[in-house]
Amino acid sequence: MSPNLTTSYLGLTLRNPLVAAASPVTGRLDTLRRLGEAGIGAVVLPSLFEEQIERDELALHDLDTLGSEISAEMTGYFDPFTGVEVGPAAYLRRLQAAKDVLDVPVIASLNGYRPGGWTHHAELLQSAGADAIELNIYFLASEASETASDVEARTIDTVASVVQHVSVPVAVKIGPWFSSVPNLVRRLGEAGAKGVVLFNRFYQPDIDLETLTVGPRLVLSTSDEARLALRWIAMLHGRTPVDLAASGGIHGAGDAVKLLLAGADVVTMASALIEHGPEHVGEVLAELGAWMREHEYEDVTDLRGALSQRAAPDPGAFERANYLRALTGYAAAYRPPR
Ligand SMILES: Cc1cc2nc3c(=O)[nH]c(=O)nc-3n(C[C@H](O)[C@H](O)[C@H](O)COP(=O)(O)O)c2cc1C
Repeated sequence: MSPNLTTSYLGLTLRNPLVAAASPVTGRLDTLRRLGEAGIGAVVLPSLFEEQIERDELALHDLDTLGSEISAEMTGYFDPFTGVEVGPAAYLRRLQAAKDVLDVPVIASLNGYRPGGWTHHAELLQSAGADAIELNIYFLASEASETASDVEARTIDTVASVVQHVSVPVAVKIGPWFSSVPNLVRRLGEAGAKGVVLFNRFYQPDIDLETLTVGPRLVLSTSDEARLALRWIAMLHGRTPVDLAASGGIHGAGDAVKLLLAGADVVTMASALIEHGPEHVGEVLAELGAWMREHEYEDVTDLRGALSQRAAPDPGAFERANYLRALTGYAAAYRPPR
């Protein structure tokens, strides 16, 4: 008998815990359709950015002042790098089209870092059919005058500002560099978030030694990165009412099983789907089912959190004790190259 993979995430029922994270794979209708056919549990569309919304509103304001007739189409504009139409109007059209081709939950993504007028777009996403909103808070504190508390308070205010505009659930995608992840997660829940996505991936700039320019360099993840989310999800499972979504480094069924054992409600994939295509979902689901049968799990809820910090035989393995063991163990085995 096939194991039961039905999962609840943000109050939505998913046929399995595999979610396609925001990426170009969820940004095209053909690949969205293929994800659906391959069995994906839910999809997150690429983000609509605070900057795009504000730019759009500025354009609207300019047109207004000129007394022009405006339509939703006219407010879109084209990304100079990709030639793709971006902006809220185009986003809403893509969201509606995604809803038409998929019969699994479609999660729209807003990406910003501070409260402001742009947050009311959550309401438009809901009206266009979004089953939930993922709010990606991506901020890099570069001012010495700004404290960690300032950054956290603004993060919480931004979440509250989005939550107040919608009745659909909101998940918040955060970066890993907060001093106290558990405290932040608690406050995100208090601000109305129904889920947290751990973690946003920061793309570091790089220096080109030939052109002597600084630019972005996007490198896809590897499975090794999944251990960052694994630790924090294991520590949070059973200690917070918010749902936990794992993001970063989940490439195969083995990674997915580990994150579920740690306590993730869902596991999300971007790099692996970019690399192997939407059909990879079918392979991962088949292997997940095979692993569960082999280990005599009939229901995915039975394995969820089975190795979280609360359930693990050695809770210290997730904390400082593990750090000490890793370093001392490595040092003891180290032999210098000759
Ligand atoms: C090309 C590319 C585009 C992405 N676009 C978005 C985006 O629009 N919004 C977002 O929240 N995350 C975006 N992400 C981040 C992914 O959703 C995911 O969190 C991250 O890649 C880590 O997961 P992975 O290891 O499975 O790739 C993007 C990632 C890639 C590689």
